[in-house]
Amino acid sequence: MEGDRKHPAPAAPPTERLQLLLRRSREAKNCAYCPYSRFPVGAALLTASGEIFSGCNVENACCSLGVCAERTAIQKAISEGHTSFRAMAIASDMGDTFIVPCGACRQVMREFGTDWDVYLTKADGSYIVKRLEELLPLSFGPEDLKKV
Ligand code: THU
Repeated sequence: MEGDRKHPAPAAPPTERLQLLLRRSREAKNCAYCPYSRFPVGAALLTASGEIFSGCNVENACCSLGVCAERTAIQKAISEGHTSFRAMAIASDMGDTFIVPCGACRQVMREFGTDWDVYLTKADGSYIVKRLEELLPLSFGPEDLKKV
């Protein structure tokens, strides 16, 4: 609930930036390497400094080694020196259902804070937005390691 937040929610990205973020997630989906699932996913991550890093799912013949689009985008951003994020957009080909990140990705996203936005889209470009703390309530994070 809005009033229960310890920190005020950061402002949503300006419309133009949000449209670009959504577009970059769709473009990233076109690069998906998913010969096994045939379920392409794209993600685009907006950093606090305004840069966008995108990623797609990358599958492998050894199935357990596949990586989701969300984690590809995060790894690209982290490895370029960005650890503070404002928003992520996720795109898939599903027409009737908003794409949602898997549990593993939610935990990886949570590593970098609980108060940023995730835009979940349908193939027609419509979206809903969720705070990370809504997607992963009662989460465990880096701060908890300091509590013992
Ligand atoms: N996948 C993602 O990349 N992100 C999601 O949000 C859900 C699922 C990928 C993993 C796998 O390559 C394929 O979609 C089917 O699960």
